[in-house]
Amino acid sequence: MQKYLTGLLGWVDDRFPLTANWKAHLSEYYAPKNFNFWYFFGSLALLVLVLQIVTGIFLTMNYKPDAELAFASVEYIMRDVSWGWLIRYMHSTGASMFFVVVYLHMFRGLIYGSYRNPRELIWLFGVGIFLALMGEAFFGYLLPWGQMSYWGAQVIINLFTSIPFVGPDISLWLRGDYMVSDATLNRFFAFHVIALPLVLLGLVAAHIIALHEVGSNNPDGVEIKKHKDPETGIPLDGIPFHPYYTVKDIVGVSVFLIVFSAIIFFAPEMGGYFLEANNFIPADPLKTPAHIAPVWYFTPYYSILRAVPPIMNSQFPGVAAMGLSVVIFALLPWLDRSPVKSIRYRGPIYKVWLALFVVSFLILGYLGTEPSNVWGVFDPSTFIVGGADRATVVARIFTAVYFLFFILMPWYTSIDKTKPVPERVTG
Ligand code: HEM
Repeated sequence: MQKYLTGLLGWVDDRFPLTANWKAHLSEYYAPKNFNFWYFFGSLALLVLVLQIVTGIFLTMNYKPDAELAFASVEYIMRDVSWGWLIRYMHSTGASMFFVVVYLHMFRGLIYGSYRNPRELIWLFGVGIFLALMGEAFFGYLLPWGQMSYWGAQVIINLFTSIPFVGPDISLWLRGDYMVSDATLNRFFAFHVIALPLVLLGLVAAHIIALHEVGSNNPDGVEIKKHKDPETGIPLDGIPFHPYYTVKDIVGVSVFLIVFSAIIFFAPEMGGYFLEANNFIPADPLKTPAHIAPVWYFTPYYSILRAVPPIMNSQFPGVAAMGLSVVIFALLPWLDRSPVKSIRYRGPIYKVWLALFVVSFLILGYLGTEPSNVWGVFDPSTFIVGGADRATVVARIFTAVYFLFFILMPWYTSIDKTKPVPERVTG
């Protein structure tokens, strides 16, 4: 048996670099030996990507991308299709968990300076993935054709109208109609099930190829390639990805699957955060819901949109700020001037700014789920931003902090007192 298998492998290897790739990317890919908790989220993001694609394929078998049929087809999946409820809840919960995992994965980048030289391209592909993921989630959310699907899409597409000169044409072009309609649903379906998944898969491949070219960073932010065994050329602080990290990642996957299943089986709507109540009502173009809010993972940016005051009745400044709040991540490798990468050796100023950034992100995220006047009216005579309610004032302050984290970074990272970085990884 062994002989035949070896023979078969040899036959394949003569025609396709199977063993060479296995070695290059797994059994002889040397990763730093000090990966910690934060290093689970890359492989978990891969897992969720696969889960979304597989459950998505099964949903597509029974879903109908037609304004007359879409809502009912989702109910049919939930009630009549064998295991349909499970597939649908896996997909809807998967969407939220994708963002949980990706936000934690990005945060790891921030704490260990993983975006710094030589990993700028890994980071840029990551930002591309993040944008594509946001598009994927937005397009997917229209498909159940509930009230929130419909009005959410209406609000977001209308935002484009505020872009000077070309805005109204862009909105019309995106919708394919003068209002969100069957034409919009059809094209969003095409984007959601094929166009963006292809882009995502391509970007993820590029992300990992770039990572394997330069090698992983680690919690100490030191380059393991600097210290290699003179005889073998293997990094002294590196261990083969397989079996060490394949096995370690199974622990992360197990914990993740426990949490994932608990949500699916006990709280699939997650109190309205994963599936909103209004989306169990079929879309009605004649009835605007009293409170339109995006799903939780978009709410920090939605808050920024609402916080920035209009100029001459145009919402464009808010729209521009919202766009900027996402793409600004791409500049991080060039904004950070610190001589060290990891938070372990950074000074107090970076730590304070990072904490402020996280707090702003969370507060903006919370405010985005609430109506803008949630804390009542603010007395405009006492504050420069006239006419704002209390929550808007708070959102404005934290929007400013959010952007200052990036804008002031070149300055505070260069004056911060850093600790000496060890030559080799520490643990
Ligand atoms: C579908 C989404 C994504 C997938 C499947 C993915 C996958 C991975 C994997 C498997 C790794 C190696 C394991 C690890 O370091 O955790 C990794 C590393 C990395 N990812 Fe992602 N990623 C995704 C999104 C992102 C995003 C949105 C960003 C940032 C904007 C990003 C930035 C990085 C960086 C900087 C590294 C290198 C980390 C280091 O070496 O310390 N990734 N990614």
